[in-house]
Amino acid sequence: MESVVRKAVIPAAGLGTRFLPATKAVPKEMLPIVDMPAIQYVIDEAVESGIRDVLLVTSRGKSSVEDHFDIAYELEDFLSRRGKEELLEKVRGSSRQVSLASIRQKEPLGLGHAVSTARGLINDDEFFAVLLGDDIYDSPVPATRQLIDAHQKSKKSVVSLIEVPEEDTKKYGIVSGMWRDDGLFEIDRLVEKPPEGTAPTRLAIVGRYLLPGRVFGLIENTPPGHGGEIQLTDALQRLAEDEGLVGVVCKGVRHDAGDKLGWLRANIAYALKREELKEPLLEFMQEILESNP
Ligand code: G1P
Repeated sequence: MESVVRKAVIPAAGLGTRFLPATKAVPKEMLPIVDMPAIQYVIDEAVESGIRDVLLVTSRGKSSVEDHFDIAYELEDFLSRRGKEELLEKVRGSSRQVSLASIRQKEPLGLGHAVSTARGLINDDEFFAVLLGDDIYDSPVPATRQLIDAHQKSKKSVVSLIEVPEEDTKKYGIVSGMWRDDGLFEIDRLVEKPPEGTAPTRLAIVGRYLLPGRVFGLIENTPPGHGGEIQLTDALQRLAEDEGLVGVVCKGVRHDAGDKLGWLRANIAYALKREELKEPLLEFMQEILESNP
């Protein structure tokens, strides 16, 4: 039987320190990529992958994220009376595709802890997706859909992987294991943010996971790890040992929107896909290149 994945957990509780002062009063998830908040790219990917229920894990000062996915009656009425149908569709799009619930992570105890706030909403045998807002995938087949396909093929839990330069391994959860004949990677060891020079491979976990509800019990028994926080990566080590875990290198481009340069690159890449922006932006970039030989 095909397993159906309908639920996703989206942790959005981080302080966004890398974008201060912009994130003093605006959640980093609401920083725009062209004209859409970063978090909407992630929720759109979830919806296009078949997800219908999203649990947002938020923290103090994040209510604008919830507002963004709520219905804005006055705004819709205003746009409708002005005949601004195209904008109205865009504004409506964000609120009506999914059923969204949110829960507060009251203390920053780590990604594992943030994910475990969904316990009680997901059965032990049910598979759910985790999407981290900092990682944005631009791909013809949505990344979460690619994880679901890998899960249906392998019957195992899945994480998405990319190969990173050696000097970047310290920023990620790093895995080791073996490539399978079907192109998936059988993971036997995971290490969260290994110190420089100690990473077993250059294969990094990026922010997409497909996990069973059983993982909550494993997170509960995971002691604090890197940075004194409850790390999802550490709980996944147990999952890999108990029932297997595979990695998939998703087809498409991944942007690290949690990093200043990555966020700028994402803005340029998405702007170049817009008919009305492409030409003037290329002209501007040409001017810059010519004045900065
Ligand atoms: C988290 C995970 C890490 C993963 C990364 C991907 O780290 O803990 O394993 O590689 O996301 O973006 P963070 O970037 O939240 O510190």
